This record gives sequence, C-alpha cells and structure tokens, in this order.
Amino acid sequence: MRFRPVKLVASDIDGTLLGDAAAAERFRAAWEALSGHERPLLVYNSGRTSEDILSLVDENLLPAPDYAIGGVGTMIAEGRVRTRMEAFAKELGPTFDATAIDAIMAAIEGAVLQAVADQHPHKASWHLPDAEEQRISEIAARLAAAGVDVKLIYSSSRDLDILPRSGGKGSALAWICRELAVDPGEVVVAGDTGNDLEMFEMPHVRGIVVANALAELRRAVAGDPRHYMARTSHADGVIEGLRHWGVIR
Ligand code: GLC
Repeated sequence: MRFRPVKLVASDIDGTLLGDAAAAERFRAAWEALSGHERPLLVYNSGRTSEDILSLVDENLLPAPDYAIGGVGTMIAEGRVRTRMEAFAKELGPTFDATAIDAIMAAIEGAVLQAVADQHPHKASWHLPDAEEQRISEIAARLAAAGVDVKLIYSSSRDLDILPRSGGKGSALAWICRELAVDPGEVVVAGDTGNDLEMFEMPHVRGIVVANALAELRRAVAGDPRHYMARTSHADGVIEGLRHWGVIR
C-alpha cells in the first residue's frame, strides 16, 4: 500500500497522550523537535472541554495544538486565538432540549448524570456502568421515539454521551479536514477507547491504537492494515505510531 505524507495528526488526550507523565514529556519533546516544514497540523480530540484542553497546554503537559476539538466532537477552538469556532457550533444545529432528555434518562436504571462541567448545550453526558450494546440501542430508540434526534457514544463501559448527529469525534474531525482542505488520506489519528472509534472509521484515515487501549476500540479496528497497533502505551505508543507512519524519524 502507498500512503501519502501526513498533513494532520489528531489525537485523543486522556489514556492516549496523557496517563504516563514521562512519556507525555517525550511526546512533547519529539513533536517540538520537528522542524516547521515536517511538522503536520496538530489537533487534540477529547471529551474534555476545549478550554480544559488548552489549559493542559498552559501547564506544559502537551505541545500547543493548531485546533482543540472538545466535548466529544461538540466544540472546536482554534489553538492560537483560542476562541470557539462559531461556524462549527452552527453545524451542530439547535441546542438540546435538556428536559426531554432528562425525562427519558430518568427511567433508565443505573444512569447518573455526569458533573455539571461535562454538560453543555450540545452535549449531555451520563454514567451508566457496564451497559451492553443492546441497552444503548434501547435508549437510542426511546430518545428517537420522543423526537430527540441524537447520536449516542458509549465508552469505557461507563460513559454515555448524547451528542448532535453532526457531533462526535469523527464528524468534528471531518469538518476540520474539509475547512482546511486536508484529504483524509493525509490524516493520522490516535486513541484508546470507544469514543475514538469514529475517527478510525473515517475513510482513508490511518490510525494508531496505543497498547493500553480498551478492547472496545481494539476489537473494532483489529485486522485493518490502516491502523497500527502500538506495542507501547500512552504517549510512547503515539510516538511509536508516528514513527511507523513516517512523521517522526
Ligand atoms: C470525558 C468527558 C465525559 C465523557 C467522556 C467519554 O471524560 O469529560 O463527559 O463522557 O470523556 O467521552
């Protein structure tokens, strides 16, 4: 297979770039050592808010990104000016009817609303331990029957994110790629859990699955030659994958 040079790297943060402080520092050093012309665009793609992502940069835990996709693909901030991109907010459509969602979720046994900081007008997040796929489909059906047109992302056998259809890590990344005229064949993504899966499913995108990744992601991408299964964990796995894809020499 012939691959095109990498123009954009999109990575999850918690469990992928963060989780091992020494490895994260090695990633920051390796990334910052790339010269201007060999360094691809850097996009963080996390469940954290975009403001929270940028605060990790201020704490010197991560190199500065070009874009920060936050809230599981429901907000995008431009890395330099740090303001939220209004065009993407429009793309997400009307904000949620929290009352309608709460009414349905109240009947789901074991579902507990996440912290206030994790809720915003285009994201409603719950904890629901150990739910099977079927249970998630049932919740989706109940929401649909009540006229709530959303996308559900379940990850880490615990986190249930209710997102607009045009939200999610893959949709948000695809939107950025269109804005920047970057072809998905020039993109490498990295992640560790089920909420990253949408990025790996984007056509032509290449992936890096860190060694500590959960089975929910591992199983879904196993055997696909577009996705590199790193032997090392956290940021070391990302560095290993970036070497594999020719970004770091
Ligand atoms: C982050 C977010 C949380 C979300 C989870 C999985 O932890 O803070 O709201 O449910 O990612 O996407």
